[in-house]
Amino acid sequence: MNIILLGAPGAGKGTQAVVLSQKLSLAHIASGDLFRQAQNSGTELGNTAKSYMEKGLLVPDEITVKMVLERISEPDCANGFILDGFPRNLEQAKALEKVLNDKGQGIDKVVYIKVPEEELVRRLAGRRICRNCQTPYHVTDMPPKVEGKCDRCGGELYQRPDDKEETVRSRIKVYSEETAPLVDYYRKAGKLLEVDGAQGAKKVTNELVDALT
Ligand code: AP5
Ligand code: MG
Ligand code: ZN
Repeated sequence: MNIILLGAPGAGKGTQAVVLSQKLSLAHIASGDLFRQAQNSGTELGNTAKSYMEKGLLVPDEITVKMVLERISEPDCANGFILDGFPRNLEQAKALEKVLNDKGQGIDKVVYIKVPEEELVRRLAGRRICRNCQTPYHVTDMPPKVEGKCDRCGGELYQRPDDKEETVRSRIKVYSEETAPLVDYYRKAGKLLEVDGAQGAKKVTNELVDALT
């Protein structure tokens, strides 16, 4: 099974992907995580991506598409994957479709996690993520068991530089203009599964597991 998670910044894509990938035994591929890893390693890809990410803009398609398509051709994706943060515009969606079609595969479901804008801003203001495995937490809603430390790997938690309110607003604008049209695109393709992402994270997970299994 190949799944796409679609939703605005802060909708809960990463939160749900971590749990769903374990429950459904699928690889979790997050384009933003791949860019942040590249920045931590100091590669050229990381430096290029950083200049866009710090402004809340999309990294150019030629860079992003190549990186994600290479990643999903790795062996751990052979039995299915969850894409988190990709595709983010029509051009990326078409590039993905073409590569999967050539392999006799496709996208099975597109999960659209819907959350109102003010809740997105509130969530991102309190988000902390693990420097090592990038699992997201929230200072009040989803705190780690030990303050400042990741439950999964013990890594240090930090605030993403693009979670400043002004950058969050530009990310949401970019989402509305460039990514939101994909909701209709996948609805017309009969692949859309819509979920109310404003409920508690566990409720969202339960709805998704029921619908996907
Ligand atoms: P990316 O890393 O993908 O960020 P994003 O899309 O802005 O999404 P977020 O990671 O901010 O939100 P999320 O939906 O994962 O929410 P989370 O689960 O953490 O992209 C970053 C940048 O990289 C982009 O701006 C762009 O520059 C570049 N990029 C990435 N992909 C690209 C692409 N394909 N093309 C071009 N450029 C690309 O949850 C948020 C918070 O809410 C957490 O604190 C969490 O604990 C909490 N929370 C989650 N669910 C709930 C709930 N149900 N109730 C209460 N709190 C909750
Ligand atoms: Mg995320
Ligand atoms: Zn971790």
